[in-house]
This record gives sequence, C-alpha cells and structure tokens, in this order.
Amino acid sequence: MRVLVTGGAGYIGSTAVAILLERGYEVNVLDDCSTGHADAVSAQAKFVNGSILDIGAVSNALKGCDAVIHFAAKSLVGESVEKPDLYEDVNVNGTRILLAEMAKAGVRKLVFSSTAATYGEPEVIPITEDSLNKPTSPYGTTKLAVDQMITAESKSGLAAISLRYFNVAGAFESKSGWLAERHDPETHLIPNLLRATAQKPLKVFGNDWPTKDGTCIRDYVHVVDLIDAHILALENLEVSNHKIINLGSGGGYSVTEVIDGAAKVIGREIPAELASRRSGDPAVLIADISKAKSLLGWSPKRNIEDMVGDTWKSQNASTGN
Ligand code: UFG
Repeated sequence: MRVLVTGGAGYIGSTAVAILLERGYEVNVLDDCSTGHADAVSAQAKFVNGSILDIGAVSNALKGCDAVIHFAAKSLVGESVEKPDLYEDVNVNGTRILLAEMAKAGVRKLVFSSTAATYGEPEVIPITEDSLNKPTSPYGTTKLAVDQMITAESKSGLAAISLRYFNVAGAFESKSGWLAERHDPETHLIPNLLRATAQKPLKVFGNDWPTKDGTCIRDYVHVVDLIDAHILALENLEVSNHKIINLGSGGGYSVTEVIDGAAKVIGREIPAELASRRSGDPAVLIADISKAKSLLGWSPKRNIEDMVGDTWKSQNASTGN
C-alpha cells in the first residue's frame, strides 16, 4: 500500500513516515516545511515540498496512493488565538482541498490527526468520544470543523478515522537516527523541562489549579505508540464510515510529577520556577481509551519514563536521515 503522509516533515509526521517504511509501506510526503524539517523525511519517501493549500502540489503528492494520513496543520493553541485566520486557512481550507483532490484521484481512505482540544474544558474525566465538543481555541475549533467535514465526506464513500490525541511525547530512533521534536518556539512540557538550566529554569504555569498538587494534569502518550494506532486505523478503515477515537494512556500526571519523574530518569534536578497560569490551559485532561482498545485492539506500551528517556536521547543525538 502507498500512503500519502501530509505534514510528513513534522515531529509526528516524520515518525509516521519512518515507521511506515520500516513496516513495508510505500510513502509519499507532502510538506511545505513551514514548521517541519526536510532532513527529517526519509530518503526512501517520495517528497513533494509544497503546501496543502496548493492544489497542484496536493494532486501531485496523491499520485499512486491508496490512502492518506493527514497531519499537515497549524497546531499551537496560543498561536491560534493570535492568528485565527491562519488556522482557518491551513487547517480547514487545506483539508477541503485535500478531500476534493482525494475524491478526484479516487483515494477513499483517510486517517486524520485530530485533537483533544476539540473537547475544550471537560465536564467529566476521563473524556470519552461522546463528550461535548466545546473547543476553547481556534485550534480546537478548526480541528473540530475538519472532523465534521470528514463525517460529511464519509456519506459519499470515504472510509475515515479521526484520532484525537492527548499529549504526545517521546521520540523514535529510526534506522538513520533519532527523530527529535524540533519546534521553534518549543512550548511542550517534556522537551522544555529537559532543556531547563539554572539560568533559564522551566516555568511551571500555575500551582493553584484544582488538582492534588495544584499543577495541571495531562495524559501523555508516546509518539511510537501513537503511530502504531495510526497504522491499525489504516488497516481498519470501513467504506462510508467515519470513526472518532481518543489516543492517550488513560491516566494522568501532574506537571510536578512529570518534573520529578524526569529528574529520576536523567539523574539530576530539573531547575523550575513558578509562573502564572497559561491562558487556555484546562486543569485536567485524561482520555478514556476504551474505544481505541475495542475498535483497534490498541493500547499503549510505553510509559512516562520511556517518553522522557527517549526525548532526552533524541535531544542529545544528532538528528538525521
Ligand atoms: N507546561 C508548563 N511549562 C512549560 C510547558 C508546559 O508548566 O514550559 C504545562 C502546561 O501548562 C500544561 C502541561 O505542562 O499544563 C502540558 O503542556 P504542553 O504545552 O506540553 O501541552 P498542552 O496540554 O498545552 O497541549 C497538547 C498539544 C495540543 C493538544 C493537547 C491535548 O500541544 O495540541 O495537548 O491534550 F490539543
């Protein structure tokens, strides 16, 4: 099977490309490298350097493909509040173009990178896929709009699964080296805490949240487990059917617990200081992953120590392909 991976030069997308290739799939990649890195794309993939908004590039990238895994998107909650039009354009209009070109090319299989941000501030924990969708950011709103667009498209034959990620972390060591998380700016907790120094300590965004130790609780899932779920999704698509499935671990860690756990993994204290709450942060996000277990036969195999340890190794290794 040949799979188009949109956003295949990004952190999660490039990991998907490497794992797909190692499992014997053929891969095309479409990425404009606005946030991704061309050197993260395996040389074995056919790489189209172009935007999801460029109809010609999308149609070229789809050539010979049987299915699409769609990661290409703007994905920062804070940035989406500042630039809602950019998020509407890339995430919603980009996917509209992709779906139209897939229909023209007769490609009727899609796995979509959705997000827990579609749920907003949850009323019940753990969060099931039936929870209310009340996104609190343009990022979540645009991803929800895409999920709805895909549901509509499934009525005309598309076989689709949207995977709603909780907090993705860790890294993959491909045959040609570690594929590290390389965001600029980096906003995520685990890569940030591993870079903290006495001069530039990690900022802990609030210790007065309604949780056991006052810091926010999140559900962390290893990027390799996450990609395993994408491949299972790819193999379990059903014609004219759109499923929405949460991907997390089913448990949560507070920011303080992640810091303490990371200190044990790397064998030194993590310099940290208290900062004010970050706007848009919900107190607790934990996934109910029973649907992923029952529909895909998936459950995560790697724990928080693996996520911290692999991120640490990837940051200390030269990235390459
Ligand atoms: N945090 C800090 N200091 C930092 C970075 C993060 O205290 O320097 C805290 C945050 O306040 C939050 C937790 O660590 O409580 C995790 O923050 P991340 O930035 O790592 O991740 P988010 O929970 O904000 O968001 C991630 C993805 C979103 C996705 C969401 C779903 O980036 O795309 O998980 O759970 F929607």
